[in-house]
Amino acid sequence: MKIYLNGQLVSKDEAKISVFDHGLLYGDGIFEGIRIYNRKVFLLEEHIERLYESAHAIRLPIPLSPAEMTKAVEETVAANELVDGYIRLVITRGSGSLGLDIRRTSDPQVIIIADKISLYPEELYEQGLKIITASTIRNHPQALSPRIKSLNYLNNILAKIEGSDAGCLEAVMLNHKGEVAECTGDNIFIVKNGVLKTPSTDAGILDGITRRAVLRLAREAKLEIMETTMTRHELYVADECFLTGSAAEVIAVVELDGRLIGDGKPGPVTKDLKSRFEKLTRE
Ligand SMILES: Cc1ncc(COP(=O)(O)O)c(C=O)c1O
Repeated sequence: MKIYLNGQLVSKDEAKISVFDHGLLYGDGIFEGIRIYNRKVFLLEEHIERLYESAHAIRLPIPLSPAEMTKAVEETVAANELVDGYIRLVITRGSGSLGLDIRRTSDPQVIIIADKISLYPEELYEQGLKIITASTIRNHPQALSPRIKSLNYLNNILAKIEGSDAGCLEAVMLNHKGEVAECTGDNIFIVKNGVLKTPSTDAGILDGITRRAVLRLAREAKLEIMETTMTRHELYVADECFLTGSAAEVIAVVELDGRLIGDGKPGPVTKDLKSRFEKLTRE
């Protein structure tokens, strides 16, 4: 495996950064998770745009232009001869003193890892997931906007632990107002009476790139779409529910907090959008 580190492709053993890096000391940095389908990087432009927006929001100067970053990602994918896979693009603040001051850091580190991925067992893509609602809420947008894909994922990790403790692979997170936000690493959708609903970005969620792609596919399919405030009750009484993410792709949810969603099987709208997504990515 060849890893891109600050302009060079190095082996896994050589891919090392300083213990004084604020990415490690404070989670001070940003990242992207991106799919490779059939040697092509999926929606790379949107991921690069979100990366630079995250950087701008935390005042992190990325030492490459978006065009140079795009080229670096493509070179890393080619060097690893990946047909299908997953890219983790990480930018850290760089190393500094043992204090928070960003003025005493230098050299943001640019890391690109391209690897294979399988998030959920294959059969769950047919059967759907059982999930719970976590008691840990999503970041308060006034504290750290969930729109920033930062290296601070601790509350999502705490929610994920709650999920694992309950025997679930994902967990729904509510926002500070008690409304549905998203899952620990995926956006959430429901279908009710033929209408596709998902929390709007105002709910304090990551503006997911798979979410956007699925909304475009839903528009093509002439579905009625509502980006709207959602309560947990609406999830319980939904006809269908599914999650989206670069790693997860499109996966049905068939049970939440011990309540079956619909008839407890992936529904027709979910299946249709899932197959449209597969077509988009693989054909
Ligand atoms: C918290 C969170 N929400 C949603 C998503 C899905 O976003 P995307 O479709 O851009 O991968 C992710 C994964 O990146 C995530 O970490």
